[in-house]
Amino acid sequence: MDILEKLKWRYAVKEFDADKKVPEETVKRLLEAVNLSATSMGLQQFRIMVIEDQEMKNRLFELSGTQKQINTASHILVFACLNNLDDEYIEKYTDKMAIERSLPENVAADLKLRFKNMVGSIPKDQKAIWEEKQAYLGLGNLLTVAAIEGVDTCPMEGFSREKYDEILGLKDKQLRAVVICPIGYRSENDRFQHYKKVRLPLEDFMVN
Ligand SMILES: Cc1cc2nc3c(=O)[nH]c(=O)nc-3n(C[C@H](O)[C@H](O)[C@H](O)COP(=O)(O)O)c2cc1C
Repeated sequence: MDILEKLKWRYAVKEFDADKKVPEETVKRLLEAVNLSATSMGLQQFRIMVIEDQEMKNRLFELSGTQKQINTASHILVFACLNNLDDEYIEKYTDKMAIERSLPENVAADLKLRFKNMVGSIPKDQKAIWEEKQAYLGLGNLLTVAAIEGVDTCPMEGFSREKYDEILGLKDKQLRAVVICPIGYRSENDRFQHYKKVRLPLEDFMVN
């Protein structure tokens, strides 16, 4: 398998074949891949919600500029950031790490303090952006791994974050939708699959 060929095969799908479902084991593999993404300090500042229910997809379609990727997708993956990444969250996370890595008490305590200081030093107006960057790393992983698995995707920001939060009950879970990615299999009718991929030649892309 040539990874570059897989990446050339991937494109942002505008319409999926609504009759084709991504098998559950494949969805699980994609979720595992996202869960394995690197995040700043390993804090996993985001979660994923998977939408499969057609009625819900139809409602989300209306809240996403009636973009057909939404109501024709097999599943929609919603990347949602934590609204409560506070000292308590960091404590829980470092405790888990200390147990799983059998860290000596003093090392764990030092780690906890360092993480709290590092997160605490992020300016308030930058913290949400920092959290959301981590979700985008997960999204990048998803796009690549899905392409390797032969699953089509469309990364999307064209949706109402507030409405998604409301309808999906994310607010109550202390989460906020950041970016979404419907997955499925491209429809024969999607003309975008035939378009040439437009990218800079490497010599222009690279800076000397
Ligand atoms: C963060 C992000 C948000 C995007 N939002 C949308 C969207 O709302 N609707 C859409 O049709 N495409 C969306 N796209 C797809 C881009 O338009 C597409 O990736 C770009 O034109 C390059 O084309 P390609 O992915 O087919 O190679 C988004 C892409 C990214 C990375």
